[in-house]
Amino acid sequence: AENEELLGKKVLITAGGTREALDPVRFLGNHSSGKMGYALARMAAAYGADVTLISAPSNLTTPKGVERIDVKTATEMAEAVFKYKEEQDVIIMAAAVADYRPKEFSDTKIKKKDGDLLIELERTEDILARLGKERENQVLVGFAAESDNLLENAQSKLKRKKADLIVANDISAQETGFASDDNQVTIIGKDIQVTLEKADKLEIARGVLDEVVKLLN
Ligand code: PMT
Repeated sequence: AENEELLGKKVLITAGGTREALDPVRFLGNHSSGKMGYALARMAAAYGADVTLISAPSNLTTPKGVERIDVKTATEMAEAVFKYKEEQDVIIMAAAVADYRPKEFSDTKIKKKDGDLLIELERTEDILARLGKERENQVLVGFAAESDNLLENAQSKLKRKKADLIVANDISAQETGFASDDNQVTIIGKDIQVTLEKADKLEIARGVLDEVVKLLN
């Protein structure tokens, strides 16, 4: 192990982008590759933690020693998170979870017709916000992917979702955020604001976990 700072701790991490099906062949999704969440899982295991990774579809291989649970939709991700949350010391929501899903699923492929097609969407549950409401003695970390007003929006997510830390990615920057190997983030907490230099996602994961370790101690 890299160090033993999370030895004996249970850490739950979500990764990847959820997919909300419209019909048997189409879905609404996003560009999350799972790289950030998988890097966190790998680094948390290297820190000695007992890691559960709840993964939306991703091509990445499961890091060694990590228990992986595969899900597709925001609803399945919520079910898996709430099934495992009780026993966790730390929960990190790195997944890009759909905020809306199609109101109706068509069992058969939607046929092409003349004119526009209108699809109605309904809200999904906000997993992080519910974790914030229900948690007792846990460190709760959220991510924020923002294209504008990065720090303001991250601050408001910290309060609204009652998280301990929000890791804010500027997705308007080049070569960081979704699907890239590198990331550049600012970690925000009640009393802290730490900006990590652009680095590969494993290094960013280390920086995030170091802040988590401080909160646990
Ligand atoms: O996977 P990669 O390609 O490596 O990309 C990494 C990433 C950019 C996806 C990741 O670092 C990131 O920023 N993840 C969060 C993206 C996001 O959807 O942010 P958000 O602002 O929509 O959500 C804020 C927080 O609430 C997140 O922790 C999210 O997991 C959580 N959330 C959102 C919606 C929802 N219904 N339930 C949630 O729990």
